[in-house]
Amino acid sequence: MAVIPVALAGRPYEVRVARGLIGNVAQEAQAFVRKDRVAVVADANARHFHGAALEASFASAGLALDWLELVPGEGAKSWDGLRLLVDWLLAREVERGDHVFALGGGVTGDLTGFACAILKRGCGFVQIPTTLLAQVDSSVGGKTAINTPAGKNLVGAFHQPSLVLADLAALDTLPDREMRAGYAEVIKYGILGDAAFFDWLADNGAAVLARDPAALEHAVATSVAAKARIVAEDERETTGARALLNLGHTFGHALEAETGFSDRLLHGEGVALGMVLAARYSARRGLIPAADAERVALAIAAVGLPASLPALGLDCDGARLADHMRHDKKMDAGTLPFLLLRGVGEAFLARDVELADVAAFLDEQLKG
Ligand code: GLY
Repeated sequence: MAVIPVALAGRPYEVRVARGLIGNVAQEAQAFVRKDRVAVVADANARHFHGAALEASFASAGLALDWLELVPGEGAKSWDGLRLLVDWLLAREVERGDHVFALGGGVTGDLTGFACAILKRGCGFVQIPTTLLAQVDSSVGGKTAINTPAGKNLVGAFHQPSLVLADLAALDTLPDREMRAGYAEVIKYGILGDAAFFDWLADNGAAVLARDPAALEHAVATSVAAKARIVAEDERETTGARALLNLGHTFGHALEAETGFSDRLLHGEGVALGMVLAARYSARRGLIPAADAERVALAIAAVGLPASLPALGLDCDGARLADHMRHDKKMDAGTLPFLLLRGVGEAFLARDVELADVAAFLDEQLKG
C-alpha cells in the first residue's frame, strides 16, 4: 500500500492507495466511526459494484449502514441535490464529530464534501473515490462544490476530508473511456511539474490503462503525492502554486462548453486536448520548441485521448471558443490567467495572454 500524507497544518490526513481497501474499510477508517450506524452517500453504480463489500466490512465490526443513493451524473451536484442530502443527514442526526462516507466519483465526493462543509457548520467526511479521475484529483485537496445554472462548481467550499481510500480494485469495473479520461489528469502531473514521470508514462501508460497493478499503483500514488505537495503549499489557490493544477483546463473548459458539457467530450478528454493546445500555444509564443509540444500531443494521442481540434468536428471559430473563456471562474480583474509551459515538466501562470491572440491561434488549430 502507498500512504501519502497531505500535510495541512491543523488537519493533516492520509491518502491510502492499494487494492482491496473497500473490503477492509471498517479497519482502515476505524478512527472515524463512533456510532453503530454509518451514513454512506454513493452513486448508484458505485453502490452496485462496491456496496456489498463495504457493507460486509462494516458489518464485521458490528456497524450498520444508512445509504443515500445518487442518480449517476452531474445532475446530483445541484441545489436540489444538496438540499436533499443535507435534509437526509439532519434526519439521521449526524453531528459535527461524525464522519459521512462518500463512495463514488467526483460528483459524489464534491456534493458530499460540500454538504459536510455546511452541515452544522462542518462535520467530517471520508472519501472513497471509485474513478481514476476522483482518485488522482477531485478526492484530494478539499475542493467541494455544486453546479448552478450560472456554471459549474460556482458554489462551494474548501473542506478537507479526514481520510481518502483509493481502492485500485474499484477501477476494474470502470469503463475504458472513463479510465482514459482520468489518465489525462495523471499525465497532467508529468507535464506540469515532473518530466521524469512524463517519460515514465510514455513507457508505461498502456500498462496503467490496462490496470497492471504495479503500474497503476505507481501512477496513482505519484499523482496523489504531486497533488498533496501542491495543496499543502497553497490550499486555497492564493499563491499561484495550486493554479498549476488547472493546466489544460481553460482550453478544455471552452471545449466542454462548446460541446454542451455532454458525453460528446468528457471533462478529462477536454483537459487532454486542452493540454495539447496549451503546449502548442506555448510553442507559438516561443516558450518551448515545437517538438516539445508535439511530444505532449503524441503522449496524449498514444492512449486514445483527443489531441487535435479538427477531430472534434466543432462548428465554430476561435473567437467563439475564446468567448467561452471570458466566463471562466478564474477571470481576475478582467484578465484570464493562463497555464503555459516553459518545458515539458515546467508549467507556469502567464498573466499577459490576450484572448484575441488565443482566438487567432485557435483558428489556426481548427484548420488542422
Ligand atoms: N482540481 C484542481 C484542484 O484541486 O485544485
